[in-house]
Amino acid sequence: MRKPLVAGNWKMNGSSESIKKLLSALIKGAKSVKNAEIAVCPPYIYIPGTAGMLSGTNIVWGSQNVATEESGAYTGEIAVSMLKDFKCTYAIVGHSERRTLYGDTDQVVADRFARALAGGVTPMLCVGETLAERESGSTEAVVERQLKAVIDKNGIQSIAKCVIAYEPVWAIGTGKTASPEQAQDVHAFIRNYLAGQDMQVANGVRILYGGSVNAGNAKELFAKADIDGGLIGGASLKADDFLTICNSF
Ligand code: PGA
Repeated sequence: MRKPLVAGNWKMNGSSESIKKLLSALIKGAKSVKNAEIAVCPPYIYIPGTAGMLSGTNIVWGSQNVATEESGAYTGEIAVSMLKDFKCTYAIVGHSERRTLYGDTDQVVADRFARALAGGVTPMLCVGETLAERESGSTEAVVERQLKAVIDKNGIQSIAKCVIAYEPVWAIGTGKTASPEQAQDVHAFIRNYLAGQDMQVANGVRILYGGSVNAGNAKELFAKADIDGGLIGGASLKADDFLTICNSF
């Protein structure tokens, strides 16, 4: 019922040359991917080129962020209307690197989420705890706080129009994946929390896992009941690995 989704978050990596190569390989390999939707999120400046190469294929594309404002004097920002102009399907909001390195608060994330939705781009909302938060037993409280900020601003029905990605900060780019059980526990917590407000929304929303997913561990993670795919960083830069992950359902 929930179609699995594998999304590549390329972060600040690539060049025109390397991205062309990567996309050519992905386009070829994705033809035989039947069980999952595939998305890639390049750096903003490569979105037009990516859109050009991917249109008409079975790979969609998105951005890694979106401005909180609609347009105007916001130097360096990219508006959702611009993402829409280049047919982005998704916009990642609240990635932990934005939250920790660039000061995106829960409120700012809720604003970005609102703007994406209003502009017709599906927000991919990232939540997750740091190592210190996990060790102090506050994983669920943190994830709940992050979700609540978005729901308070946008309403529970907005969750039906988004994708959630649970990304424990301690697992991102560290090679330290959450075990399938650890991930499933938090995914189930998220779904239960949402079910407390709307059962249909909870059952319908896709919850991806992210954090050191690779070609070797994807299958086990994706086999869990509440894990509906992955948000992939490092391994999304290697066509073979990313395609293996896409074929892990
Ligand atoms: P990683 O990154 O797969 O390199 O750990 C995941 C992410 O940050 O989305």
